[in-house]
Amino acid sequence: MKRVIEPEWLDDLPPDDPGAVGSRQDLRRLNSLMGHVTSLRQLLQAAERSQPPRRMIELGAGDGTLMLRLARQLAPKWPGVQVVLVDGKHAVAVETRAGFQDLGWSVEIVTADVFDWLRQPATEPADAMIANLFLHHFSSPQLSELLHLAADRTRVFVACEPWRSQFALAFSRMLGLIGCNAVTRHDAVVSVRAGFADQELSSLWPARPQWQLRERTAGLFTHAFMAERSQAG
Ligand SMILES: C[S@@+](CC[C@H](N)C(=O)[O-])C[C@H]1O[C@@H](n2cnc3c(N)ncnc32)[C@H](O)[C@@H]1O
Repeated sequence: MKRVIEPEWLDDLPPDDPGAVGSRQDLRRLNSLMGHVTSLRQLLQAAERSQPPRRMIELGAGDGTLMLRLARQLAPKWPGVQVVLVDGKHAVAVETRAGFQDLGWSVEIVTADVFDWLRQPATEPADAMIANLFLHHFSSPQLSELLHLAADRTRVFVACEPWRSQFALAFSRMLGLIGCNAVTRHDAVVSVRAGFADQELSSLWPARPQWQLRERTAGLFTHAFMAERSQAG
């Protein structure tokens, strides 16, 4: 399937629009169904070193609940992590912010375009950066810039994105059957058509010897990517 990028409705709706609120609830269910928290945790743990991460950034973090679920699994072994949630919309609830604090993690919410934010020289580097259902929004030239900016600011980068396949496309057309709203039904089809296959993300990551890359399908619907800077790098 050829990669096609089209606008997603959620990106243009105000955070308090009922369609957006419902779609973010749908995303929580879909992330559970696709096992994205587990996949991201396993990728992060595969890159674990003797010192746990101190600072983690999520790009396109949405309502922050995916990162909170990840934090709940990681906090017993990774204490006191600083989390930065970056998204163009402010959709993080007070309860979600409190959830990080209950774990002893701090959270900073940045409402900004990720490109503008990553281009700022003052953006502090992270030990790990994650992206979930986010990279597929962008064209290859945009992604190349985004991944180069990210590579300069993190030691580990992990992502779970839609797998661009006929099977995933067929499933995305049936989300009405599990009660997803019109925004999610539209965006899911658009997302799969803009998703990834083969080594497409690796080919856009900076070709530097210190980076080890892994890219593969994970489960039935997901395309997973990981970049890890070597100890010497
Ligand atoms: C499909 S949602 C995924 C949200 C979250 N990662 C999750 O899994 O629930 C994509 C998110 O990307 C955000 N977004 C899209 N383009 C963006 C940009 N250029 N800069 C920052 N955020 C952006 C949208 O606001 C939206 O919250």
